[in-house]
Amino acid sequence: MTLTQERLHTALAPLVFQFFTQAGSTNDLAIDWLKQGAPNGAVVIADEQLKGRGRMGRTWYTPQGVALALSVILHPPDEELPQVSMLGALAIAELCDQLGLSDIGVKWPNDVQVNRRKVSGVLPEVVWDGTHLTGVVLGIGINVRVDFSGTELAETAISLESALGESLDRVELLSYLLGRIDDWTGRLGSYALFAAWKARLNMIGNLVTVSNGDYGIQGMAQDVDEQGALLIRTPDDVLHRVIAGDIVMG
Ligand code: BTN
Repeated sequence: MTLTQERLHTALAPLVFQFFTQAGSTNDLAIDWLKQGAPNGAVVIADEQLKGRGRMGRTWYTPQGVALALSVILHPPDEELPQVSMLGALAIAELCDQLGLSDIGVKWPNDVQVNRRKVSGVLPEVVWDGTHLTGVVLGIGINVRVDFSGTELAETAISLESALGESLDRVELLSYLLGRIDDWTGRLGSYALFAAWKARLNMIGNLVTVSNGDYGIQGMAQDVDEQGALLIRTPDDVLHRVIAGDIVMG
């Protein structure tokens, strides 16, 4: 089923949203809207992105008609910022639960995986006006029926439809996802949100290597703290607190 303004309007009302059949990046559009005063919970949705951004400066692939690309505008207090990306990953994991998928996990920090392959990514971008927090844009990309065969992502990415073996309606997915986001937004800052995110992490207790471009650390992924940082114990028994990076097992 196609994404249209009319179908979205019917399914998402009374939500405040903007829909684009084609966009550069929904995060860019949402940042502009946030600066112009967009309300808490407003959403930018695109059917196709030409300049989708991923974490760590990577490109995020959103071909027309086969994915979900959205950015939710939130106005949390400063101290609740670390939980915004947790909230995104949690809501996506719950969408996967709702579909009846199994082997769902969150790979630190916020990649949602099905069968240990990435089905979704989260990119929060914070906007400041000097020292005043204007708000945050929570970018979410979900592979619904993206075909990764023959690409460099063939072994590491997956789409919801291929994991499930049936076709899905993106409007229904979006409607459920935004409901979960709304629910968790009401609990931003709570221990319950942190605990629910932590319970989804699929590499705690494993030997991992984390790299962030400048350095790599190998050790045991021991825990996460409430700010979302990963605590890694290296073989020399030092506990490292890592706030950003990419993980590989082993
Ligand atoms: C990641 O690297 O895992 C994060 C990917 C986030 C992609 C989404 S798609 C909607 C929003 N707009 C963007 O340009 N990026 C995010």
